[in-house]
Amino acid sequence: MKNTIAKRMKGVPQSFIREILKVTDSEHVISFAGGLPNPSTFPVKGLAKACEDVLAEDGPKALQYGSTEGYFPLRQYISARYMEKHGLKVGPDEILITTGSQQALDLAGKVLINQKDKVLMEGPGYLGAIQAFSMCSPVFKTVMLKDDGVDMDAFKKICSKEKIKLFYGVPNFHNPSGITYSEQVRKELAAALSKFGVQFIEDDPYGELRFTGEKLSHIKSYYKDGILLGSFSKVVAPGMRIGWITAPKNIMKNLVTAKQGADLHTNSLSQRILHRYLTDNDVDKHIQDIIKIYKNQRDIMIKAIEELLPDSVKHTSPEGGMFLWLTLPKQLDSTKLFNIAIKQNVAFVPGTHFYANGGGHNTMRLNFSNSSPEKIKEGIERLGLAIKKMLK
Ligand SMILES: Cc1ncc(COP(=O)(O)O)c(C=O)c1O
Repeated sequence: MKNTIAKRMKGVPQSFIREILKVTDSEHVISFAGGLPNPSTFPVKGLAKACEDVLAEDGPKALQYGSTEGYFPLRQYISARYMEKHGLKVGPDEILITTGSQQALDLAGKVLINQKDKVLMEGPGYLGAIQAFSMCSPVFKTVMLKDDGVDMDAFKKICSKEKIKLFYGVPNFHNPSGITYSEQVRKELAAALSKFGVQFIEDDPYGELRFTGEKLSHIKSYYKDGILLGSFSKVVAPGMRIGWITAPKNIMKNLVTAKQGADLHTNSLSQRILHRYLTDNDVDKHIQDIIKIYKNQRDIMIKAIEELLPDSVKHTSPEGGMFLWLTLPKQLDSTKLFNIAIKQNVAFVPGTHFYANGGGHNTMRLNFSNSSPEKIKEGIERLGLAIKKMLK
C-alpha cells in the first residue's frame, strides 16, 4: 500500500528517552536517563484504601462516564490548594482535569497552534512539549536558559523581531536543566509577554518538590492571561495519569471541546480515588517525605560529581525536582560519550535532544530521583571513567 502516514508526523521527534529505556533495561545498567519518580514514594496503601472506599460507597458513579471537565470535588481541591499554598485565585471552573499534564500540552497545542505559527521553546526544553507541539507543524524558535531562567534580553529581541504566538516554559526545577526562574525573571517575563501579546504555557509539575530556597510566585500571578499546567504524577503517582490545565475562559471552552474529541474525559475511577486519597491523608507530610528522599539523592549526586568528574564539567544545583544538567568541555560530544558510557553500564540523556532547533552537543541530563544513593555514587564514578577516556 502507498505510504498512508500524514505529513505532520515527519516533523515529530521520536522520544530518545523511550529508545534509551530499551538499552537501559538490563539490571547491570545504572540509568540516570529516565524521568521516573522513585516508586518507593508511591502511597500504595493509601491509594488501596481510597480505592476500596470509593468502590464501596460510590461504585456505580465511579464506573460511569463522567463530565469532560473532570470530577468537580477534585477541581475544588486543586483550586483550594492554589489559594492556600500560593495565594493564587483559580476557580474550579477554570480547571480542566487532563490525562496527565502531557495531555494538557497536546490539547493546548491543538487549540492554539496553526501550521507555521512561531512557537518559542526554552533551550534546553521539555522533550514531551516539543513532541506534542510538533504534531501541529509549528515553526520552533529557541530562547536559551541562564542560571536564573530564560535569557530575558534574548527573549525581548526575538519577540520584537518575530511574531511569536506562544512561549512554553517550566519555571520551577526545570526539566531537563534543573534551574529555577528567579522572581525578577518571572516579573520581567510577565511584562514582556503582555507587551508583545504572546500566549504563555507555564508547566509546573515539580513546583511542590522544593528542597531549599524560598517559594516563588507562579508567573500566572503576574500574567493573568497565561495558561498554567499542574500534575499529580510527581507528588502522588504518574500511573494515575491525572494532571490539569487552567486557562482563560475563551481558551478553556476550546480545550473542553478538544478533550471531548480526544478521550471524552479522564478516567473517572482514578479521579475519585485520587480525590479520596488527597482528602483522607496528610498530603503535605507525604510531599515532605518525598522531598527528604530526593534532596538526599541530589546531595549525593552533586557530591559525587564534584569529587569524581573532571573540574571542567559544570553542573547545575537544582533547588528541587528530579533532574540536573551537566555541561562538558566544548570539544566533547555527549552523544559520543553516551556510546562509551553505556559500555560502562551507565546511561544519561544527551542534551541535544532537548533543543528544538539543535545545539547543546556538549550537555546532558541526569535524573537523580530514581537511583539509590549507592547506585548514584557508582554511576557517577563510571561516568567519570567514560569522560576521562574521551578526554584522552
Ligand atoms: C515538564 C514536564 N511537563 C509535563 C510532564 C508530563 O507529566 P504527566 O503527564 O505525567 O503529568 C512531564 C513529565 O515528566 C514534565 O517533566
